[in-house]
Amino acid sequence: MVVVWVLIRKLNRGGGDGGAVVVVLSATVCCGVTMVVVVVSACFKRSKTFFLVPEAMEITTVFCVLGVAAIFLFNLWRISNRLWFKPKKMEKFLKDQGLKGTPYRFMYGDLKEMTRMMSEAKSKPMNLTHDIAPRVLPFYHKSITTFGKNCFTWIGTNPIVHVNEPSMIRELLANYNKFQKARGVNPFVKLLVKGLLDAEGDQWVKQRKIINPAFHMEKLKHMVPAFYVSCNEMIEKWEKVVNTESSCEVDVWPYLQAFSSDVISRTAFGSSYEEGRKIFELQREQSELTQKALTSIYIPGSIFLPTKNNKRVKDINRQVRDSIKNIINKRLVAMKAGEASHDDLLGILLDSNYNEIKQHEASNFGLSINEVIEECKLFYFAGQETTGNMLVWTMILLGQHTDWQICARDEVLHVFGDKKPHVDGLSHLKVINMIFNEVLRLYSPIVFLRRLIHEETKLGNLTLPAGTLIQINSLILHHDKDMWGDDVNEFKPERFSEGVSKFTKGQVAYLPFGGGPRICIGQNFAILEAKMALAMILKRFSFELSSSYSHAPHTMLTLQPQFGAHLILYKI
Ligand code: HEM
Repeated sequence: MVVVWVLIRKLNRGGGDGGAVVVVLSATVCCGVTMVVVVVSACFKRSKTFFLVPEAMEITTVFCVLGVAAIFLFNLWRISNRLWFKPKKMEKFLKDQGLKGTPYRFMYGDLKEMTRMMSEAKSKPMNLTHDIAPRVLPFYHKSITTFGKNCFTWIGTNPIVHVNEPSMIRELLANYNKFQKARGVNPFVKLLVKGLLDAEGDQWVKQRKIINPAFHMEKLKHMVPAFYVSCNEMIEKWEKVVNTESSCEVDVWPYLQAFSSDVISRTAFGSSYEEGRKIFELQREQSELTQKALTSIYIPGSIFLPTKNNKRVKDINRQVRDSIKNIINKRLVAMKAGEASHDDLLGILLDSNYNEIKQHEASNFGLSINEVIEECKLFYFAGQETTGNMLVWTMILLGQHTDWQICARDEVLHVFGDKKPHVDGLSHLKVINMIFNEVLRLYSPIVFLRRLIHEETKLGNLTLPAGTLIQINSLILHHDKDMWGDDVNEFKPERFSEGVSKFTKGQVAYLPFGGGPRICIGQNFAILEAKMALAMILKRFSFELSSSYSHAPHTMLTLQPQFGAHLILYKI
């Protein structure tokens, strides 16, 4: 009891750190030793001559002692194997393949060093350069620089093999059944996002098929007016701020976050978007709590402890699910009453699901209500975080490289003139396309992709043991001199003037949206939304970096500006 109490106190204070793990381990050992002592002393009481004349001891008591000792030793062996012998065996296995990497450190692997380097990097802003990998991924960057492009590090007891060669990346992303999403380590992530992002095998095929229609270009066209309304609201706010003077400093980051969440509320839930906004606020808080949990070792089962964080995460999860369920139920009632279906993501998803069930005449072919809820949660998370990031980095870079800002504005004025930006025009914005490609290369919102293998598996010329995590460090890959040339850290949208594959010569080296069959389903949605926003902003404002802007890209699950995005806005 005391041990559990200490554990809860520790978790409440600073999340489940290694100290808590030590408490649990000590508890296991203490319990084992206590049990043996209890049984031995019980024997001793029954036979005072126990140590002198063992043959006098009753046979059953001997078995009892031996049984308890065996269970204790077995568990001790299992724990030691898990925490030491197995990782050491895997380390040897990887070294025998010719891979170099960090030596395994008991229980934590590289977590402590990673956390230390991360907090040091985050403690101050960096110079205004685009060489951001050493600040954003300090530990992985250092490991790859020290041990080579293919190397290994440790997250707890699991090795991570870093793969940065295009041919291996292609193989990894193409074989989605062999190389599955890394899951199971921390259930906090599962509470935050599940759905398509997390599904595997047949379940993934089924879900992707049902969700795909919601992201077809034909359907997305109907969402463009919603993009316009949300962006107009944001711009009106900026205009009010700037109105009093001809220019004004604005931290655009919170506005862009609010914009992208507003877009997803409108496009996912149409008329119920006010309710959707509430969901988004809760998910933002949950995302912060999850990030906190991810910086420490997860102790199996600790999610069930009544800590403050755990209670809040579960409460948020319940509220989010209830709100989404409420919206879905209203829709289902309307569908049954024969009302026309909606053009929003939820409406298209429910229609597609209904068709799938009807086609096979069996409800187990479609998604359950629970699965639909998880997909809606995922739209929120995936749709809001990433697109907001892409826009904020675009504004920061165009605030720094104002020549490109002028080029982009000229294009917008040429395509739309005085008219509102419209969907056909958006597909003609070539300069803006190049700018987005370059922003996503230098500041990709998702900085790495991770997979897990469940059995010994071959990848390129490597054989990897079961339980290995495999990581593609997209951000580091996008800043690789060998791939992109000496000007890798310069903002040069012109490198994409003939498209991405022309520049990369067809190699898999550019992965802002992932790749292979599991490539981002929402990429057209995101690009269309971002084009609309940038076109509208460029028509109404010019902007430059403020002297109070501190350059500090960091990850909070996705890549964000740590101290905001302070720009001087000028009304046009
Ligand atoms: C700039 C914006 C975006 C970026 C950079 C981005 C990036 C990514 C990446 C890298 C993946 C692959 C993850 C992996 O392979 O492990 C992914 C998957 C996914 N994204 Fe996006 N995303 C963006 C916008 C969106 C939007 C707007 C939505 C939906 C509204 C969305 C929904 C998804 C889903 C559902 C998946 C999982 C696909 C699958 O596994 O089949 N994303 N995204």
